[in-house]
Amino acid sequence: MNAYSFIKGLHSGFRYVVFILLVLAIIQALVGWLGKKPYTDVNRRVNLFTLISAHTQLLIGIILFFVSPLVQFNSNTMKDPVSRYFTVEHWVMMVIAIALITIGYSKSKKLVMPESKHQTVFIFYTIAIFIIIGAILAGHLPILG
Ligand code: HEM
Repeated sequence: MNAYSFIKGLHSGFRYVVFILLVLAIIQALVGWLGKKPYTDVNRRVNLFTLISAHTQLLIGIILFFVSPLVQFNSNTMKDPVSRYFTVEHWVMMVIAIALITIGYSKSKKLVMPESKHQTVFIFYTIAIFIIIGAILAGHLPILG
């Protein structure tokens, strides 16, 4: 196994960590928000680990960007759906999603009311998960088509 396939496998597998933590964080934020529950240390930790996992995935993604043969900068890049996806679309969508997770976490940290903390995490993390799912599905469209 070379460095490329190792990083690729790591990045591809790590999506499940990000995804599972995001789902957990979203569920606990919704339950906390609607149930008017306190913002516990467990809540804070799950939200923080979700943020850390997203940033870890960002770092792995940046490394992958420089070693992947699917990332190409030539006249063919925008014409080929697979290279356009990995050179432009994938990382732009993922960076937006990671930025939303980061903003949501830091906004909620500054808020005082537990209800507002839960609500903020819920809104930002939910938009982020939809963008991530959309980005992964979009990546499979050229292959399916
Ligand atoms: C939450 C963030 C991210 C998730 C969940 C994610 C997920 C994935 C997944 C599942 C794949 C495999 C292909 C697919 O099924 O679509 C992939 C490939 C790839 N990702 Fe990400 N990604 C994220 C962020 C990033 C970022 C920020 C970058 C670049 C800065 C990046 C660069 C790449 C590259 C270059 C590939 C192609 C690998 C190859 O050569 O096959 N990713 N990503």
